[in-house]
Amino acid sequence: MSVLTEHLNSDHRKKEFSCGNIMLDDYLHKQANQDIKRKLSTCFVLKDKETDLLKGYYTLANNSLFQELIPIEFQKKLPSSYKSIPTTLLGRLAIDLKFQNQGVGKLLLVDALKRSCEISKSIGSFAVVVDPIDENAERFYDRYGFIKLPDSRKMFLPMNTIKALFD
Ligand SMILES: CC(C)(COP(=O)(O)OP(=O)(O)OC[C@H]1O[C@@H](n2cnc3c(N)ncnc32)[C@H](O)[C@@H]1OP(=O)(O)O)[C@@H](O)C(=O)NCCC(=O)NCCS
Repeated sequence: MSVLTEHLNSDHRKKEFSCGNIMLDDYLHKQANQDIKRKLSTCFVLKDKETDLLKGYYTLANNSLFQELIPIEFQKKLPSSYKSIPTTLLGRLAIDLKFQNQGVGKLLLVDALKRSCEISKSIGSFAVVVDPIDENAERFYDRYGFIKLPDSRKMFLPMNTIKALFD
């Protein structure tokens, strides 16, 4: 599997990262390393080769969805006795303002989907779930086929769809 990103570590220039959303900036500046230490989440970054500045980051974690929250057409393919369906959470995805609108968001999304697909070969995961921070982010994920979960801000992309993309 070829990926572009690497694990966040203490050498990365995270303090200089600014994507225009204070919550996503603060997360990288203050919280990401703690979540990694506590095994709550992983964080992957893409570095600019010339300056070492961080172009963007994303986080991944195990997650689950109540089956009743999944659209009916997908529930039909799932055993009705499974109340909770295992998924992978792409919790955060952010690109530094200096690097936005240059295709980096797309690259990082593909990178995150590749990693998620690879992990699902070892640990079952029905879909990648995202939790868009606002309507702008929702439009970004919509563009890549993510499906809205009814009664929720969250969106998902089935792992079999992702697998078909890379096969
Ligand atoms: C949303 C975000 C990740 C997009 O990253 P980006 O690097 O600017 O986007 P890209 O340049 O890779 O765009 C890829 C494609 O998506 C489109 N696109 C980008 N942002 C979009 C948006 N908000 N809505 C719809 N389409 C969008 C681009 O036009 C481009 O289309 P093309 O392939 O036809 O040229 C970035 O703007 C960002 O970090 N925003 C702040 C944080 C945020 O909202 N994160 C989202 C998850 S919580």
